Formats: sequence, structure tokens, C-alpha cells
Amino acid sequence: MINLSVNIKSENKSYPIFIESCTVSALKEQILSFLNGKNFLVVISEKVEKLYGKELGFDKSQKFVLKDGEKEKNFKNYKRILEKALKMKLTRNDAIVAIGGGVVGDMAGFAASTYMRGIGYIQVPTTLLACVDSSVGGKTAIDTNYGKNLVGSFYQPDAVFINPGFLKTLDDRQFKSGLGEVVKYAFIEKSCRCGEDLNLTNFLSEKTSDILNRDEKTLSKLIKICVKLKISVVEKDETESGLRKILNFGHTYGHAIEKITNYKKYTHGEAVVEGMKFSFNLAVKRNLIDKNYKFFADDVIRKFNFREIPLFNQEKMIELMQMDKKATSKHIVFILPTDYSTVEEFALLPDEII
Ligand code: GLY
Repeated sequence: MINLSVNIKSENKSYPIFIESCTVSALKEQILSFLNGKNFLVVISEKVEKLYGKELGFDKSQKFVLKDGEKEKNFKNYKRILEKALKMKLTRNDAIVAIGGGVVGDMAGFAASTYMRGIGYIQVPTTLLACVDSSVGGKTAIDTNYGKNLVGSFYQPDAVFINPGFLKTLDDRQFKSGLGEVVKYAFIEKSCRCGEDLNLTNFLSEKTSDILNRDEKTLSKLIKICVKLKISVVEKDETESGLRKILNFGHTYGHAIEKITNYKKYTHGEAVVEGMKFSFNLAVKRNLIDKNYKFFADDVIRKFNFREIPLFNQEKMIELMQMDKKATSKHIVFILPTDYSTVEEFALLPDEII
């Protein structure tokens, strides 16, 4: 078992991240032993419930099954989760266990952060994207009609249990979506200041087919590298006032793609990949990097055969990027590559982007 830990100094909080391929019933035992007799509510994705519900064997009375899809990350379901917790009479000493992808983790985490002003929660990510990114670092949120993740909190989980075995049954598009975030870590690795040379770019090149074939050992190693990078960033800047912004590489343009297509047409990872390509082009135009690095980055991306996304109306895209949480009244904030595996923050005017 790989055992990592996240130390949030400002809150004097530390929590473990376990990475282990094991049976679902063994995972359940580990969760129960961690909870040590606490009462708990399980928020679980409908797909995961269908595939693993029996094996997990949680009682119906302690389960909230959430339909899949970004549109479920809404006020209505947030309220329902809280009501279920109230009905179960959970106290401040109890916990919520989130089993699913980013939607489940973000919503259950937000419910946990507000229920009785905060109860503990455990993340059990079952998608690649949730394993490498959203389950670690305490970002919780729900979506609104005005945009994604606009209501939320920074609220760290008590533990994260990552079982790469779940990735066997993940549909291909969702798996690739997670790979989009994985590739992002390769392009930001040095800026994560991890203190260890993990060389994710090499790992991606050498192990491309093992990754695409979902070899469990390879996926465990891949997840471990990404999680180490994420921990390094989150420990230095929990609330995204500085360094954590680098995790948004590819996201300014990516979020605008998701928004312009009503979150229906492309997965988050596909949009982020397109956002990274956009950022590489912008960086070449602004002489931040030479063309060779851009061609190299194109090759890394091409290996994973991500879905191509067409260009959209440029004024509309600028307008959407101006609504991004990171934007100021005039400037749009981009994370751009400045060297191999290195990125920096730039605030650009619309004219400089067009
Ligand atoms: N998903 C980006 C972050 O956790 O900051």
C-alpha cells in the first residue's frame, strides 16, 4: 500500500492518502476501520452503486445515490444530502463518505463542510480524474446557473482511499478525461516544487501503452506521481492565493469550452487538453517558449489521442473567460508555459489574446 500524507500547516491538519489495488470488500473494511465506529452517510455515484453496491454492502438507510453527470452538482442535490444527514441524525462527530468521481466528491465535501458547520468526510475516488486531482486538496463546490463551482469551500477530507481497481470499469471517455489532467501535471511538474524529480513526462512516454491498457501497477505509479505533485502545491497554498493557481493550466480556455457547449459536449479533461494547446500557442506568440517545446508538447498530447475540439466564436469565448473566477475586471488570467514542465501566471487583456 502506498501511504502519502497531506499537511495543511495553517489548519494544523494532516490527513492520509492511501493508494492500493484491493478488492472492494477489503476497501470497505479499511474505511470502516478508519471511521472507528462513527455513524456515517455514504454519498455514492449511481454507476458505482450499480457496479459495486452489492460488494460494498452499505445499508440503504445510510446511502444517498447520486445520478451521474455534472448537471447533478446542483443546489437541489446538495439540499437532499443535508436532509438525509439530518434524517440520519448525524452529529458533528460523524462523517460523510464520498464514493464516486469529481461530482460526488465535490458535492459530498461541500455538504460536509456546511453540515453543522462542518463534519468529517472521506474521499473514495472512482474515476481517474478524481484519483489524480479532485479528491485531494479540499476544493468542494456545487454549480449554479451562473457558472461552475461558484458556490463552495476549501475543506480538507479526513482521508482519501484510492483503489486503482475501480478504473477497470471506467468508460473510455471518462478515463481519457482523467488523462487530460494527468498530462497537465507533466507540463507543470517543475513549478509544483515537489523537491523530487518525478519526471512524469518520461513516464508518460515510456508507459503510454500500459497506461492506455490500464495496467493496475502502472496506474498506481501514475496516480502516486500526480498526487505527490498535487500535495506539494496544496501544502504550499491551500486556498489558491498563489502557487495553487498553476493547477489551472489549460483551465481558463477549457472552462470557456465547457460553458459554451453547456457542459454537454466535451468532458472536463478534453476541454483542459484543448486549453493547454491554446496556452502553448499563446506562449509561442508571446515568445515565452520556442516552437520546439510546443512541438514536443503536441507529441506528448498526441500519444493519448484526445478528442479534437473546434474553434468557437472568439468574442463569446473572451466574454466567457472574463467570467472566470480568476479574472479581474479587465484582465483574463492564464497559466502559460515558460519552459519545459514550467508554468507562470499572466494577466492578459482581451486584445493580447485575440
Ligand atoms: N483542481 C484544481 C485544484 O484542486 O486546485
